[in-house]
Amino acid sequence: MTPALSVADLREAAERTAERAAFDYCSGGAGDEIALEWNEAAFRRRRLRPRALRAVEAPRTSLTLLGAALATPVGVAPTSMQRLAHPDGEVASARAAAGLGALFCLSTFASCSLEAVAAASEGPRWFQLYPMRDRGLTRDLLRRAAAAGYGAVLVTCDQPVTARRRRDVRNGFDRFRVGQPNLVLELAASWRAANGGSEEEALRQGLARVDAQFPNAGLSWADLEWVCAEAGVPVLLKGVLRPDDAREAVRRGAAGVVVSNHGGRQLDRAVATVDALPAVVQEVAAEVPVLLDSGVRAGLDAAIALALGASAVLVGRPVLWGMMASPSDGVAGARGALDLLHAELRHAMILLGAATLEDLDASLIE
Ligand SMILES: Cc1cc2nc3c(=O)[nH]c(=O)nc-3n(C[C@H](O)[C@H](O)[C@H](O)COP(=O)(O)O)c2cc1C
Repeated sequence: MTPALSVADLREAAERTAERAAFDYCSGGAGDEIALEWNEAAFRRRRLRPRALRAVEAPRTSLTLLGAALATPVGVAPTSMQRLAHPDGEVASARAAAGLGALFCLSTFASCSLEAVAAASEGPRWFQLYPMRDRGLTRDLLRRAAAAGYGAVLVTCDQPVTARRRRDVRNGFDRFRVGQPNLVLELAASWRAANGGSEEEALRQGLARVDAQFPNAGLSWADLEWVCAEAGVPVLLKGVLRPDDAREAVRRGAAGVVVSNHGGRQLDRAVATVDALPAVVQEVAAEVPVLLDSGVRAGLDAAIALALGASAVLVGRPVLWGMMASPSDGVAGARGALDLLHAELRHAMILLGAATLEDLDASLIE
């Protein structure tokens, strides 16, 4: 089989290989999937004005981000239940990221526990937090993440309710078909310790209690402030699309923001992230790092986001497609996606005449 030459190739291979419901869960978006489409289209609209004769032979892509030493500004976004994409799930994608020196972000709803992922890879890692209704439970998650060496926390603010994703409804997708040990198993175990009974019943009770905790439509700025005070590590707000929200996040103690619309999986018709980025950068990038995700499908997309002022980009689906396309080796699958994007970024930097990430600036974009 021809090796994947692009993220689009990986997506096609994933679609051929994976089970329909799993592929659709990972690939689909909310509503009419307009935001999903806009994210990618907005990158494709940008035109580039390269600098000539800069003698860039080996562009430098390394950076330090809130204490994390990274070899590349392309990192792995937190996506839930990666065991749907490959049986090795987050352990595989975390190992792949570590091999490249890329940042790895683990979802609250990961299918491998945060401790298992930490034990499996030495690489730089951050934990994505959905603050639960119960602050005690949220505090436990924060403590476990800090103890397991997660160097920062991403608080996701764009899921006060879970969007209707029609593909999942049509497919009868069962969101509990792979475990979510960070939360569900912990809740199940605590229920069983208090009530006894079978493991099956405890799991049912654990699941029922998750629904009472999440989604948390009551989330407010005060919760962000509380998480910032509790976390013990830098906190970033993920899901910001407006400069006033970025400013408020910083005022409440956030050490960074992620311009994201959840990959078009939450509010349909949300503005494309690369369109939202410049205003957020203008408002807060002098004080805190601004990251971007949603729709990055090529090294050129990453270069565009960086040129518009992002410190780093995160990718969700490309890594999942890589793992789906490589059932015999999940690490190689995830690594293939990351290597491809990283190589494309380096290539783009040479063509743009950018020797360092700092050389990627807005003058390159039309
Ligand atoms: C299958 C899937 C599951 C996701 N689960 C989470 C999650 O648990 N927490 C979170 O903050 N974001 C989650 N996201 C959003 C990603 O972190 C990220 O914002 C998005 O995937 C970026 O868009 P991209 O897939 O176009 O790269 C998920 C995205 C996908 C595709």
